[in-house]
Amino acid sequence: SVPRVDVVTIFPDYLAPLDLSLIGKARTSGLVDLRVHDLREHAHDRHRTVDDSPFGGGAGMVMRPDVWERAIEATASHRRSGAEGDGDGVDEGGTDGRALVVLVPTPSGRPLTQAFAQELADELGAGDRVRAVVACGRYEGIDARLVPALRERSDVDRVVEFSLGDFVLNGGEVAALALLEAVVRLLPGVLGNPESVVEESFSHEAVLEYPVFTRPARWEDREVPPVLLSGDHGAVARWRRAQSLTRTVQRRPELLARLDGLDAVDLATLA
Ligand code: ADE
Repeated sequence: SVPRVDVVTIFPDYLAPLDLSLIGKARTSGLVDLRVHDLREHAHDRHRTVDDSPFGGGAGMVMRPDVWERAIEATASHRRSGAEGDGDGVDEGGTDGRALVVLVPTPSGRPLTQAFAQELADELGAGDRVRAVVACGRYEGIDARLVPALRERSDVDRVVEFSLGDFVLNGGEVAALALLEAVVRLLPGVLGNPESVVEESFSHEAVLEYPVFTRPARWEDREVPPVLLSGDHGAVARWRRAQSLTRTVQRRPELLARLDGLDAVDLATLA
């Protein structure tokens, strides 16, 4: 079945960019099934309350675990819509057989990496084992009992708290967009040219991308590096490798610690 990710948020409009560009096209061509849900549908009071003040005092509001659990439970029990259901396109309830990976954006989560995006894309792309739900918190976060409670559920495969980096966003929506953009482009059939996935930064090893150039060959007195106009593919490849490594040494030296080993050409390059 089609790779599926549900997003739960109090601001569904924040996820509007999922209709655009590469992700929008992947959705309309049936390569991925992305659905956005309003957390407030699962708040049962007249004011549709999803948060409350923190026990122990302090600033801000904390999201209630009961509302979140109902929202994730409802998502977990959604059936496939349309042709794969009974044909009326309405959720029939009951699991569709795939276990849920629950993704929770939070600055205290594990840093999002290309390796994690690839792992998730592989699992979702395999089709029948897992699907994912992204639980976007706002305010000071979600009640800390939610994650352990979800981990005990038999319909939950695992819960991953992830961070975009060491800075604070107002909520998880932008992190959900970033994660989806990183994952959807890796799903089978989404990118026209799979080579661009293999070549780019972080995909098979942790080095930065080499600089790229296009026409005009001379622009505002700036020349394109002559080797790129030489037609010598071997020389071009070696130049690009050297640029990647030099850039990595200069900009992100800590990434080199993750390299398994540098070959002779690489070492000559760095000397
Ligand atoms: N929510 C708030 N800040 C975040 C961050 N840095 N990464 C992921 N989710 C967040």
